[in-house]
This record gives sequence, structure tokens and C-alpha cells, in this order.
Amino acid sequence: MKRILFVASEAMPFITTGGMGEVVGALPKTLVAESDHDVRVILPYYRAVKEKFGDSLEFVGSTQIQLSWRKQYCGIFKAVSNGVIYYFVDNEYYFDRESVYGEFDDGERFAFFGKAVLEALPLIDFFPDILHAHDWQAALSVIYLRTHFGEDARYKTIKSIFTIHNIEYQGRYSMDMAGDLFGFEGWHTQIVEYDGGINLLKGAVECCDRLTTVSPTYANELHDDVVSRGLGPIIRRNAEKMCGILNGIDTDVYNPSTDPFLHKNFTLKTATVQRRKNKAEIQEFFGLPVRNDVVLIAMITRLVRHKGLDLVTDALHGLLESEKNVQMVVLGKGDYNYEHCLCNLSDAFPEQLRTYIGFDAGLAHRVYSGADLFLMPSESEPCGLAQMIAAHYGAVPIIRQVGGLRDSIKDCFEKDGIGFTFYEYNPQVMSDNIRRAIRLYFDQPDAFKKVRNLGMQTDFTWARSAHSYLELYNNL
Ligand code: GLC
Repeated sequence: MKRILFVASEAMPFITTGGMGEVVGALPKTLVAESDHDVRVILPYYRAVKEKFGDSLEFVGSTQIQLSWRKQYCGIFKAVSNGVIYYFVDNEYYFDRESVYGEFDDGERFAFFGKAVLEALPLIDFFPDILHAHDWQAALSVIYLRTHFGEDARYKTIKSIFTIHNIEYQGRYSMDMAGDLFGFEGWHTQIVEYDGGINLLKGAVECCDRLTTVSPTYANELHDDVVSRGLGPIIRRNAEKMCGILNGIDTDVYNPSTDPFLHKNFTLKTATVQRRKNKAEIQEFFGLPVRNDVVLIAMITRLVRHKGLDLVTDALHGLLESEKNVQMVVLGKGDYNYEHCLCNLSDAFPEQLRTYIGFDAGLAHRVYSGADLFLMPSESEPCGLAQMIAAHYGAVPIIRQVGGLRDSIKDCFEKDGIGFTFYEYNPQVMSDNIRRAIRLYFDQPDAFKKVRNLGMQTDFTWARSAHSYLELYNNL
């Protein structure tokens, strides 16, 4: 039995802005179910969590955190969800904010969080064997463990694992914040220094005992300077402690036969009939002509470059003009340019393209349950959860073969293929593959249905990957 503490800036069911929060929500409960490890999670106590869950949390205690010259209050709250204990780091100055990220002082907020996690261990009376931190917002817990707590006998034996969910976000700050904010001096500074500034993700990569990322292919791709956004040398230097473990999806949340958000629930047996009704409901919701003789393609994504939005905005006009039996819905928000471009295209093709600029989990579930095809042409993709959810809900994925997309979806022309795949990052190549999917949908409905059904039957559960994490913990 090992004690494992997950450190992260988001976790379902409390708070999430993307895939990482879903993973940190689902993995601990699976680990608890599949082993005798004591797995707990620690998160910031954001305003949104307080508003929704505040009444049900238990106050554990409080302490003071020293951050360079600052001394700050830190309260700890606690909740139990699915057999997992969650702790929340409370400080209203840092976390009683409108948003989770994107505040002017994110560096300071997550420095406080990283320090507070370690200072809170005596308070929660839980010194873990393994501290498992996720992404740059949790990086400082791994770094401080070596720098500021390295001499303390209670902390010395704690091993650390750092998981990169997306290297696009690294936590970069200017060098003059090293001492004044983060409290680094001497050799501590060298740990976080990169490219003339501070890079927190780099610091955690250097300090952790094991480094993981969320798919085997992404683990390989990270050696490349472009994919790793400049961190290639650091990744290569730490390669022997790195591995890639493919994420799963939370099938308690994503279960088409029980999903409370769906217009019509379905199983493999009832999929064809019920999905058709869901498709009609989606068409109606988006104001598209309600027709079953069109193919409905969906995208659910952050509207940012690395999700392949350049390909989409390049290709869409030509595709919609030439394929009149195609409808498309895009759900997401992000960069203004992409939002604007998609809205313009939607104005030009009102009967074919509709967008929902924003994020709405319930609507996302409904879209998965009614779309025929699901497009995910990412430029880079650490793992990607949407393609797995889509396949599980019977929306056949069209993906670019990178990162976890490549590891989870094979082309239907191969054995066990459950989607349409392409590699070249080129709008024409993407369009050709969308057309390939459209042709199969219309010309060979039985073959299409076979691909869909195989996707729905594929095992995307966490149980499939949890054993790789258990092996990692056991070998530490
Ligand atoms: C990030 C990545 C995504 C991955 C998720 C969970 O959101 O962009 O590819 O699936 O983290 O690990």
C-alpha cells in the first residue's frame, strides 16, 4: 500500500477547464478501485468550487505560508468523492477570482499553491510516498520538494512524478521574479532557468523522479524541439525517466445508456434509431434544417491553433460549397480570430454550419450522441479525450495521426479501425479524408455502421491504463 497525493489545478467533479481536470477526476478513483493504494488529491479552493460545493466541505485547519518575503494565510478544506479524499487550499486573495486561469498574477497564485501543498502535509497528517503533480500549475510542488524541503527528513523520502498534459503551457516568467516571488537563490535558480527566463515546467521535468505524459506517441514527439515548444533539449536529457501512458475516459460520466444530458439514451442495439432522434434534436437546437439525409459532422474543441483550427478555417468554405449534403456544428471558444472566422462562415452557410461559441458540457454530450462524424485534426495532441468519447458515443472520428489521436484511433481500412485518419498537416488532405468519410456514410451505410459499432465497443476505460500507473508507482 502506498500513499499517493495528486497535485493539480483542476479535477472533476469540482472544477475543470479541459482534459486535465477530467483525468485528475477519473484516474484516482480508478486507482483506488484497482489497488489498495491510498490516493488523495489536492486542489486550489476557487470561488467556483466554493459556490457549488462550499456547504459540503469540512474545514481541516489553517497555517501560514511563506512565499519569498510574503506571509499568507492558507486554510485547508476537505471532501470525499467516489472514495477519494480531496483537499482544497484556501486563500481568498489568490483564488476568490472570476476565472481559474488567465489572471495577471497566475505565477504568484500557483507559486502559493505549490508551496501550500507541501506546508499543508503536517496539517492534513498525510505524508505521501509519492507526490504526483500535473502540468505547470503544480510544477512548483515538485521543485520546492527538492529545493526548500530537501533537507527535511519528513519530506526527503517523498518521490515525485510529474505528468505533462500539454507542453504548450509551461509557466514562463521573467528572471527578476526568481527571488522576489518564487524565493529561489543560487542553484535553485538554475533549476528553473531556461532561455533567459524562468520556466516552471522545465524545473519540474528536471526535479521529478519520473516524468510521464499522456500517450506513448506524444512521449516520442516531445523529443522534437517544435512539438516541445523549445524544450527538446530538456526532454532529451531526461528521457530515461519518461514514459507515455494513454489516458482513458470516465465511463461513469460518459455512458450513452445512462447519460442524463442526452435527449435519447442508447445502447449498441438501439444506437441507429436513437441516435437519429438525437441528431434531429441537435439540428433543431442549432437551427439547422432537420433532415436525416445529410451527414452531421461535429467539432468540440478549444478554438486554438494547436487543435488544427487553421486547417479547418482554410478548408471549410470549399468543403461546404461542394458537399451540400453536409451539416456541421462547432462547439467551443478560444482565439478571437477563429471564433470570428467560424461565425462568418456560418453566416455564409446558414443551412450547413452552426457554431456555439462557449462551452456547455451538457450540449457537448448531446452533440457526441447525435453527430455522425467527429472531426479532430490537431496540429499536436498530447492525448485527446474527445475522439474517444466520440467513438464511444458512435460519432466516427476523423483525426490527424499525432500524439494520443494516433494511439487511440486506427483507420477503418486497417484491422480494428474505428475512424478516418490522415497525417499530412494540409487542408486539402484533411478535406479529402472528410470526403472519404462522407462517401462511406452515403454509399456504404452497412460498412459505415460496422466502423461506428466497433468504435462503440472499443475499451477506452481507465481500467485499461490504470495498471501502467500502478506499475510506475510500484517501481518507484
Ligand atoms: C490536455 C491535452 C489533451 C489531453 C488532456 C488530458 O488537455 O491537450 O490532449 O487529453 O490534457 O491529459
